[in-house]
Amino acid sequence: MIQIAPSILSADFARLEQEILKVETAGADLLHIDVMDGHFVPNLTFGPPVVKAIRKVTQLPFDVHLMVDKPEEYVRPFAEAGANIITIHAEATPHLHRVVQSIKEHRIQAGVALNPATPLCVIEEILHDLDLILIMSVNPGFGGQKFIPSALKKIRRLKTMLMQINSPALIEVDGGVTSENAAQLKDAGADILVAGSAIYGVVDCQAAIASLKKV
Ligand code: DX5
Ligand code: ZN
Repeated sequence: MIQIAPSILSADFARLEQEILKVETAGADLLHIDVMDGHFVPNLTFGPPVVKAIRKVTQLPFDVHLMVDKPEEYVRPFAEAGANIITIHAEATPHLHRVVQSIKEHRIQAGVALNPATPLCVIEEILHDLDLILIMSVNPGFGGQKFIPSALKKIRRLKTMLMQINSPALIEVDGGVTSENAAQLKDAGADILVAGSAIYGVVDCQAAIASLKKV
């Protein structure tokens, strides 16, 4: 069954604890935490102290998406704050292999994210080291953007690459995910759907999660 990772980027930050508990009760599988540094992307969000604080209020695994330059400097602080998965962007470091290894040294899962314009070949040589690949279906930086359909083809090709090397790595898709495109994403090979506005932007988040899951 497909896993759903609500993105707290679209939550009401004044009520963060309730917003997290709401999606946990509603059937979320992971909590997606979008970390933005104002350099790699033109927006600022959460640092390790916020992750550490919310670690106390939920059992959900923390799926930390680092949209930051120099990700090597942030692996340890986010690992110590309670991340279960740390995903870094291939575009953010020339030393992708080294940073992936450093995530694994913390005994947490390592993911690499690719922007819409970044080809799959940049991760080909390290594919067997990865626990997760995050295919961006919008340009990172903001919630509520429109899904870029070419992501579907990319997910299909990635799925084939993973099958060829017998890799159990998961494919996650992030940006503009809705109940309208969820079935296509699953068919293409996605294992985890990240959704911000489709879950936090509606009144009934339980129904929203259910409709993303039932595809
Ligand atoms: C975008 C973030 C996403 C964002 C998705 O830069 O990485 O995780 O929260 O939001 P929606 O689902 O609204 O596109
Ligand atoms: Zn994200």
